[in-house]
Amino acid sequence: MLFLSESDIEAALDMKDAIDTLEMAFKVHSEGKTKTPVRTHLDLDTVNGIGLFMPSWVEPIKAMGIKTVTVYQDNPGRNLPVIQGTVQLFDGETGTPVAVMEASYITRLRTGASSGVATRYLAPQGASRAAIIGTGAQAYTQLWAVLTAVPDIEEYRIFDIAQDKAQAFKEQVEKDFCGVKFRVARSAAEAVKEAQVVTTCTTAREPVFLYSDLGEKEVHVNAVGAFTPQMQEIDTAIMKKADKLFVDDFEGALVESGDLIIPMNEGKLEKEDINGEIGEVILEKKKGREAGDGLTVYETVGMGSLDVVIARAIYESALKNKIGTELSLK
Ligand SMILES: NC(=O)c1ccc[n+]([C@@H]2O[C@H](COP(=O)([O-])OP(=O)(O)OC[C@H]3O[C@@H](n4cnc5c(N)ncnc54)[C@H](O)[C@@H]3O)[C@@H](O)[C@H]2O)c1
Repeated sequence: MLFLSESDIEAALDMKDAIDTLEMAFKVHSEGKTKTPVRTHLDLDTVNGIGLFMPSWVEPIKAMGIKTVTVYQDNPGRNLPVIQGTVQLFDGETGTPVAVMEASYITRLRTGASSGVATRYLAPQGASRAAIIGTGAQAYTQLWAVLTAVPDIEEYRIFDIAQDKAQAFKEQVEKDFCGVKFRVARSAAEAVKEAQVVTTCTTAREPVFLYSDLGEKEVHVNAVGAFTPQMQEIDTAIMKKADKLFVDDFEGALVESGDLIIPMNEGKLEKEDINGEIGEVILEKKKGREAGDGLTVYETVGMGSLDVVIARAIYESALKNKIGTELSLK
């Protein structure tokens, strides 16, 4: 059995490969060729934590796996990451465990790549300005994915309610992505004003900017943060007025995403306002961005099949490139 640490995974798969891999994952998901129950969610109230268990079987590549992660909101004060865990990967033909991998980087990589896939299909043509709201653990791969999907981005505006975090993030990405002008904005509204691709990856419980802040331009929004029914980072008017609103997983999004559930409970959004899953766009069953579309939105909550497909791609690359540590269960 192969053990893969965070640095092993980083060496095994880059963002372009991760985005290409997830295109396949979204396709097979929307074709119904995976078995992915809605994740088991354990509320650990006494420790301000959540346990998430995400199994999946992906028929076309005969892969099974489970990601187990904890989300402990007080961990930054302990100098520990909010999200920690492992992915176990099995050989689907024999049931043999073949790999255990660090899950936090896999989560960041696949969540970024998920927005990268949506950005490929929904961003306005020739987009050159982007914005990111929230500069926590997910932010780096989100920004990297947008820059990979839309290579013409020239200016990236950055906002976080913690301005020192936004500044530190700017200094980090400036070193890694030359040729892009990064600016820290004074508000989320200022960040998104000119942006044609906007990503929100915050822990907010209220919308982080308003529909009117986006203006009348063509713009695509990746909404990443709201993964519980109580969380909402996207203004209801943005959801309602979007020309196209896609999700990663219809079933999961409707039970987990406050961006959808809160306006639906208020009678301000209907299921019919959701155009479908991003996999249906890749399968050409639904249209992505078309001429005349102004605002498009991608709402993602994540699903286990993405982790299993990406884990399998990492495992195969690790075997090929001799990355990782062999362990024996005997
Ligand atoms: N969709 C998915 O598949 C997926 C996967 C992983 C994580 N997530 C979710 O994405 C969100 C971000 O994750 P993370 O690990 O980066 O969290 P994090 O706690 O590391 O960072 C969140 C950042 O958001 C900022 N923030 C909070 N409210 C804000 C506001 N109103 N305006 C601007 N900034 C604000 C915080 O200051 C912080 O820097 C979380 O809710 C997480 O659960 C979603």
